[in-house]
Amino acid sequence: MSLPRTIRAGTRPTGLIPRALGPRYGQMMGKRHKSGPYGYTQAKALVYSKYGNPADVLSLHTHSITPSLPPSTLLLRTLATPINPADINQIQGVYPARPPFTSLLGTPAPSAVGGNEGCFEILSSPAPSTNLSKGDWVIMRSTGFGTWRTHATASPDDVIKISNKEGLTPIQVGTVSVNPCTAYRMLRDFETLDPGAGDWFIQNGANSGVGRAAIQFGRLWGVKSLNVIRDGRTRLRRRR
Ligand SMILES: NC(=O)c1ccc[n+]([C@@H]2O[C@H](COP(=O)([O-])OP(=O)(O)OC[C@H]3O[C@@H](n4cnc5c(N)ncnc54)[C@H](OP(=O)(O)O)[C@@H]3O)[C@@H](O)[C@H]2O)c1
Repeated sequence: MSLPRTIRAGTRPTGLIPRALGPRYGQMMGKRHKSGPYGYTQAKALVYSKYGNPADVLSLHTHSITPSLPPSTLLLRTLATPINPADINQIQGVYPARPPFTSLLGTPAPSAVGGNEGCFEILSSPAPSTNLSKGDWVIMRSTGFGTWRTHATASPDDVIKISNKEGLTPIQVGTVSVNPCTAYRMLRDFETLDPGAGDWFIQNGANSGVGRAAIQFGRLWGVKSLNVIRDGRTRLRRRR
């Protein structure tokens, strides 16, 4: 196996994945920042080299990122990254948009990193012309970057800067680009809701990420919402 010059790597099978995908995964990711010998950043990523059940095909891959990155390359640390339904579908191979498998991280077989959104902190010192600085928080400009990782390298064009992060948490920032945007489009693209006319919208799955964002938009715009959720007790009975 030939490795890219700047990367040293190893992959572990997924005994750790259920724990790694637990509810505190995003927060755990944010706490990890190890600097290895000679300034190499020790990084981990949840990768897959074939489609299937995430518990079967994901593995935790460790690799090092060189300290001698060019100023045009950002070194990012992950502060928070969620698990969305589409992330799972992508790994299953049933989602229309699928990131390509590559050898960039030095995995034994070409792989993709799971996850599509997250909040990242810039650890490097970008060129002043980029309008980005060390310590800034950024989100990914597009889906498919692969966000389930402790660190990443990216081009300034890959990211959008959070211009004022005061009062925001990494979890809020790391979950803004998928579900709230979907709720916005859902409410704006198909009907014109008029608060003056007392318009309402009704939705099911209202406790989902998308649903809760829709409720908040409704409140912001003065449009009333009727929100249907399934009965938790029924669901628990079915599981027993
Ligand atoms: N651009 C896009 O096309 C786009 C973007 C974002 C999301 N989405 C889609 O929007 C949906 C919501 O995404 P999300 O991230 O907001 O989801 P989420 O936060 O994970 O919530 C999932 C919702 O589905 C409900 N649910 C799950 N299984 C169910 C079942 N068997 N019967 C009835 N309800 C069930 C859950 O109810 P309980 O809490 O009772 O389990 C919960 O309300 C997903 O289908 C997602 O793929 C599409």
